[in-house]
Amino acid sequence: MATATLDQAVQQQFGNVAANYASSSVHALGEDLARMVELARLTGSEHVLDAGCGAGHTALAFAPHAAGVVAYDLTPAMLEQVERLAAERGIRNVETRQGSVESLPFVDGAFDLVVSRYSAHHWAAPAAALREFRRVLKPGGSFILSDIVAPSAPLLDTWLQAIELLRDPSHVRDHSREQWCDMFDDARFDPQVAHGWMLPLDFDAWVQRIGTPPQFVDALHALYDAAPVEVREFFAIGADYSFSIPGALMVGKRK
Ligand SMILES: C[S@@+](CC[C@H](N)C(=O)[O-])C[C@H]1O[C@@H](n2cnc3c(N)ncnc32)[C@H](O)[C@@H]1O
Repeated sequence: MATATLDQAVQQQFGNVAANYASSSVHALGEDLARMVELARLTGSEHVLDAGCGAGHTALAFAPHAAGVVAYDLTPAMLEQVERLAAERGIRNVETRQGSVESLPFVDGAFDLVVSRYSAHHWAAPAAALREFRRVLKPGGSFILSDIVAPSAPLLDTWLQAIELLRDPSHVRDHSREQWCDMFDDARFDPQVAHGWMLPLDFDAWVQRIGTPPQFVDALHALYDAAPVEVREFFAIGADYSFSIPGALMVGKRK
């Protein structure tokens, strides 16, 4: 019987496999990463917060273009990976801080830019996180979000949340683009969807990266086998269980 809170479940889930995220090509590469940096149009004088930084691929991609980057995450083992990768690459303007996105240990207006990639679907209270991002941003600052997003069709939405939860019990929700736009608006960010893509995933690498137990891998196989044609086609499920899921890059300008 699980007795952990969501934050503890996230720390446990990612703490065990932090090194897998440092070497993951899905996280180290990906068309969204270069797009995020491009969209930010940094001049080199900016202070950037990477919220839910994982092993640090996003923080490290922004670092050469910024005065400094704070790589922030709930899981201490992930921050150790950030420090290791930064040292290996000779990057000195990235500092790590541990904590939750819902309560940031930074003063008002500390940052010019907040970024977050492939983390927001773990957050219990994304609206609270957005309010915190707005608080720590300077007037005129922006938040750039990259994450998996739910399709609007209920069948596809339910199916996506189901496979995410079977793979990783610390999954909360892939929100739709529309839900993100509403949340941005409520937190007084001007929302804009900058880019959308289908992210191709190798099934075995996907479950191995996060350490999905064998009984859940079996359940995932059974679910994929039973998927209706609409689901198979949308997620491009292959004979080897490879598939693709939708991602979106959103920009919120602080109102
Ligand atoms: C897939 S990793 C992030 C990948 C990374 N941003 C990149 O670009 O490679 C997800 C991270 O979100 C973090 N996380 C989940 N919930 C969080 C929260 N409430 N506050 C801060 N970090 C959180 C986890 O600890 C994990 O390291």
